[in-house]
Amino acid sequence: MGKTVLITGGAGFIGSHFAEYLIQRYPDYQIRVLDALTYAGRRENLATLEGNPRFTFIHGDVRDRQTVQRAMEGVDYVAHFAAETHVDRSILDPDAFITTDVYGTFTMLEVARQLGVERFVHVSTDEVYGSADEGAFSEQSPLRPSSPYAASKAGADLLAQAYYRTYGVPVLIVRPSNTFGPRQYPEKLIPFFTVRALHDEPLPLYGDGQQRRDWLYVGDHIRALDVVLHRGQVGEAYNIAGGNERTNIEVSRIILHTLGKPESLIQFVQDRPGHDRRYALDDSKLRALGWKPEADFETALRETVLWYAQHPEWWQPILQAQAEYRRFVERWYAGR
Ligand code: DAU
Repeated sequence: MGKTVLITGGAGFIGSHFAEYLIQRYPDYQIRVLDALTYAGRRENLATLEGNPRFTFIHGDVRDRQTVQRAMEGVDYVAHFAAETHVDRSILDPDAFITTDVYGTFTMLEVARQLGVERFVHVSTDEVYGSADEGAFSEQSPLRPSSPYAASKAGADLLAQAYYRTYGVPVLIVRPSNTFGPRQYPEKLIPFFTVRALHDEPLPLYGDGQQRRDWLYVGDHIRALDVVLHRGQVGEAYNIAGGNERTNIEVSRIILHTLGKPESLIQFVQDRPGHDRRYALDDSKLRALGWKPEADFETALRETVLWYAQHPEWWQPILQAQAEYRRFVERWYAGR
């Protein structure tokens, strides 16, 4: 039977991919996007959905209870992506992380409790576990966040758990690893370095570049969300791993090789404070629901890099704001 799905943060990177996916995969679903259109949320990301009678866009903030009430009225499923997500920004200026990620999630959960939705998927992150010096985190591992961003997401994750236990709000939590693909804001490692390399600008690699991330292609990520939304057990958390652990320097080299640029563009810079060395997840619980990642990492990364190279019209309008932000970052690091 047709469902109405509310996607918060649906004009952002992963949320917009999920909105596109659901509208194609479920022809009887109505998709409603609630997005504040901050710097990272862009209406252009939803271009393929505009004009579709099954799609509605609401411009508003998850911290505003009335807006959330209006957006969640008549909704069956919620996918809550809306958040401030960039670690460096949270180190420089944490306020919005606390208000949006923690208070915004609280507002979403409160309204879900009042209105009584069927399922509420809370999009958390692997960063809530902190650094994995060895082995891999399971969903039972303690939450030990390192950055203000990760702490704000841990707060939201714990609130979601509490709303399930205390009020029976039908919460499902996902904790995905580092995601990449088209339309990711060029402040995150892969799109940032790609756009810099396209301009023959140095790639500022933190510390020794040996930090490890487990890369998850956005297409695999949203298939996992589909599985959890429809088949996950309410009250449970699910890790989403990519199975592609690479050092940052390895990723940087693939970006440069794909674009035919020299490795001399790599510039080692002062490390990020509180920098997590490694992320690694045990995703067996999700795999037991029938999901596994399908993308080949090197191929997906090269295709992603080429997508940015071929779509300057997507990133050019935000380049000025990104350049101002980078100057802010550099001044902040220089003053430490
Ligand atoms: O693990 C999931 C998380 O992945 C998400 O919850 C976050 O929203 C997302 O931002 C991401 O966090 P990271 O800090 O791992 O991603 P970021 O792209 O900022 O950095 C990836 C790695 O690259 C990290 O070790 C820091 C390094 N890096 C990043 C930037 C922007 C650099 O060396 N230089 C840079 O300029």
